[in-house]
Amino acid sequence: MIVEMKKVSWRREQRLILDQINWQIQKGEHWCLVGLNGSGKTSILDLINGYLWPTSGEISVLDQRFGEIDLRELRKKIGWVSTSMQQRLHGYETIENVVLSGKHASVGVYEKVEESDLEKVRDLLKDWDCGHLQGRIYQTLSQGEKQKVLIGRALMASPELLILDEPCTGLDIFAREQVLQMIDQITKRADSPTIIYVTHHIEEILPCFTHTLLLKHGMVAQQGGSKEVLTQEKLSDFFETALTVEVKNERNWILLH
Ligand SMILES: Nc1ncnc2c1ncn2[C@@H]1O[C@H](COP(=O)(O)OP(=O)(O)OP(=O)(O)O)[C@@H](O)[C@H]1O
Ligand SMILES: [Mg+2]
Repeated sequence: MIVEMKKVSWRREQRLILDQINWQIQKGEHWCLVGLNGSGKTSILDLINGYLWPTSGEISVLDQRFGEIDLRELRKKIGWVSTSMQQRLHGYETIENVVLSGKHASVGVYEKVEESDLEKVRDLLKDWDCGHLQGRIYQTLSQGEKQKVLIGRALMASPELLILDEPCTGLDIFAREQVLQMIDQITKRADSPTIIYVTHHIEEILPCFTHTLLLKHGMVAQQGGSKEVLTQEKLSDFFETALTVEVKNERNWILLH
């Protein structure tokens, strides 16, 4: 079991932000988490990473129950990409150092660096089509380049769980497709981490995402196999508006009426 949430609620300033979330992610599955702005997606991810503590309910991640584990050790097994991370990183570092810092899930590099680490950094930058950017300062990159470097960073520690919180935000359609195809490639590897992919855009849900959870006002509206969840009927109900779902290249495209 990769993630298990049992009746998890999170309350903040008298407001129930997450309400009785039950969610199980098994090894071999890849999940999309979809919901409108403010529905609680990032809060769920913060709970999984131990940045937030549930008001009630139980959470286990990578078979370890919260309350009984060293969160710093756990976080090394979780790769994490989000736009808020861009503000937390030291932007004046080289992209090599940004990727390297992923080894210890730290901001900046403080540990001894092995030659094998540097080799891995170079391989990851190449894998992510950033080989030509070597030596560049992170904050001078374009949004699309930054996002690819951040995914490389998240993979540096060979995580068991990879969390991508809106990784395609700010990318043009070509950069977006490139990132999506690269994520697809990761899932095809024998040693692929389990992926949780957060998006607002249904068409980003590639066939490799076996499962989808629809979150609304902090509650699970639907969850299950992506094919079962992403139907015209369920999505119309979820978005509370009549819409048409067109399937193209095994992806669902939404047309509003
Ligand atoms: N620390 C906090 N204190 C008070 N309210 C909070 C806090 N963190 C989040 N919230 C509120 O909880 C709700 C859910 O926020 P969250 O960031 O999880 O949403 P989200 O689904 O990730 O939205 P988006 O798509 O805009 O990223 C929002 O209304 C937000 O204002
Ligand atoms: Mg969010």
